[in-house]
Amino acid sequence: MTTLQLKGLTKAYADFKAVDDLSLTLKDGEFLSLLGPSGCGKTTTLRMIAGFITPTEGTILLDGQEISSPSGVVPPEKRQMSMIFQSYAIWPNMTVAQNVGFGLRMKKLPKAEIDKQVREVLGVVKLDHLAGRYPAELSGGQQQRVALARAVALQPKVMLLDEPLSNLDANLREDMRSEIKRMHVEYGITSVYVTHDQSEAMAISDRIAVINAGRIEQLEAPHRLYSRPRTRFAAEFIGRTNLIEGRRQAGKMIFPSFTAPSSGGADGPLLASVRPQNLRLLPRSGAAPSEPGTLFLPGRVEERIFLGERWDYGLSLDGGQTLRAAGPPEEEFPEGSIVWIALPEAAVIPVEDMPALEAAE
Ligand SMILES: Nc1ncnc2c1ncn2[C@@H]1O[C@H](COP(=O)(O)OP(=O)(O)O)[C@@H](O)[C@H]1O
Ligand SMILES: [Mg+2]
Repeated sequence: MTTLQLKGLTKAYADFKAVDDLSLTLKDGEFLSLLGPSGCGKTTTLRMIAGFITPTEGTILLDGQEISSPSGVVPPEKRQMSMIFQSYAIWPNMTVAQNVGFGLRMKKLPKAEIDKQVREVLGVVKLDHLAGRYPAELSGGQQQRVALARAVALQPKVMLLDEPLSNLDANLREDMRSEIKRMHVEYGITSVYVTHDQSEAMAISDRIAVINAGRIEQLEAPHRLYSRPRTRFAAEFIGRTNLIEGRRQAGKMIFPSFTAPSSGGADGPLLASVRPQNLRLLPRSGAAPSEPGTLFLPGRVEERIFLGERWDYGLSLDGGQTLRAAGPPEEEFPEGSIVWIALPEAAVIPVEDMPALEAAE
């Protein structure tokens, strides 16, 4: 059983807080991502967990034992954690098998035991046939698999991964992403994964902490985060969306171009999110179709871009509002098409936190 707790973790450089009062608890075997734009404090957080940086405030506990606080840190090599970086950091003068067995030799395990574990891990990452090669004879993806295998072979309590895929090209990134996921399923090592790529975080994580300027904006399972973003930042950062400003009043959400029922919440200014793929286009000639729970908004296709797996539409509503919509590739609504935009009422998601609107009141 491994639990990792960060409590009020803060790292300040002069009066700038790179990490600001960050608290979270990882469950045993959980795969958690820290997701946010460059400079938001992800690496600083990870390096505090690893023991390379001493927090200015707050503590880190591993299995209930304090391992970091402003008054001292357990050194990295005594934490039973493995870290994987963007640069592969494997030994150029050792073969694949020697690289993977390196940490086990340091632990002075019997040779037979080391060979067995190395073989097993290499099998899992599908590198058994390359065991005798040197890093210079491997592709980037293979080198990163070696780094992964080496980290896993040590059976650490916690794996820390800092943007491990960002040096790989797009196709390879997806393969490696599945590889990391598979390793995690196989070994169940509690993991903290740092990335600025939301699709990567979604594909791989049990939970995602969305980080903005050193603070957690929202911490939730990927599908929850996607379907119920709670801040403007989280809504914009996780997938593409339409953010619409309006008001909640007398059980309704009122926007410039339409009104939808509200399932609760206080009256006042409101920010709502509508995902592009929840909108559907229909040709508009006569009266609006009627379907319970769906709004049909008169609009026009102003722009469309073919993205291969879908169309990306820029729409204008007759009320003046603009929306992005996604449509299947076989669909034919050229620019200038007059359309009904079908909008399920349930797809209008209120975003709870509205600092910008509140400030404007
Ligand atoms: N040693 C340092 N001294 C001063 N500022 C730092 C130092 N390390 C990081 N920072 C700043 O802290 C912020 C967070 O950095 P970092 O954790 O590397 O972000 P991320 O990994 O999310 O891109 C950045 O603005 C960075 O410039
Ligand atoms: Mg970083």
